[in-house]
Amino acid sequence: MDRILYEGKSKIIYEGEDENSYIIRFKDTATAFNGVKKEEIPEKGRLNAEISNLLYEYLEENGIKTHLIKVIDETTILVRKAEIVMVEVIIRNLAAGSFSKKYGVPEGTPLANTVVEFSLKSDELGDPMINDSQITALKIATAEELKEMSEQAKKINELLSGLFLKAGIILVDFKLEFGRAGKEIILCDEISPDSCRFWDANTKEKLDKDRFRRDLGNVTEGYKEVLRRLKDVIGV
Ligand code: C5P
Repeated sequence: MDRILYEGKSKIIYEGEDENSYIIRFKDTATAFNGVKKEEIPEKGRLNAEISNLLYEYLEENGIKTHLIKVIDETTILVRKAEIVMVEVIIRNLAAGSFSKKYGVPEGTPLANTVVEFSLKSDELGDPMINDSQITALKIATAEELKEMSEQAKKINELLSGLFLKAGIILVDFKLEFGRAGKEIILCDEISPDSCRFWDANTKEKLDKDRFRRDLGNVTEGYKEVLRRLKDVIGV
């Protein structure tokens, strides 16, 4: 494999095929609570890569620009080089997780509108929530970039909520990362059960990383179920 440029908690970034690309490999390592909880989850890398690739291809077909250039093998992809905007964009359709905890709202409570949140990408600081004027004041992103990321995130939410509902899955909330590539803002990172909350539409069973965070067991099985249903609706 080529030279490692960066090793993250769940992915490794290598030099790409040329100066405009990177190679990303999805790892089996799972972390939570800012790296305090860490385990190897069998097949996680392969499952997340396949789920994310299917979703990125679906989004591209529906007008969203992503970093994905091509799939290399079952855990490895070639992506467009981008300068990551150092904020995580979180979209919420139902109350859950940190939102429920922070605002004292039971998980599953419907929200009168889609919530868009930003948090600073910083392991050192524990990814604190940050608002628009703080982001522009610190020159982390411009007002135009924030608007573009919010609009893209809402469009992605509409596309994916509809797709998952066909698969009998509620897209409760998720996290996106964007990057600057030339003059464009493109979708980077991944969309997988590591970065989304997926609930079975009938039973409300959790099919995502909360199985790992909350020691619910059968983590791999949850991820496999998401992939199986996604393939069914996408028709691959
Ligand atoms: O923890 P919280 O409820 O704020 O997470 C909201 C959503 O963002 C969840 O789907 C979670 O998996 C995702 N997330 C993430 N990476 C983070 C923080 C949150 O993928 N660093």
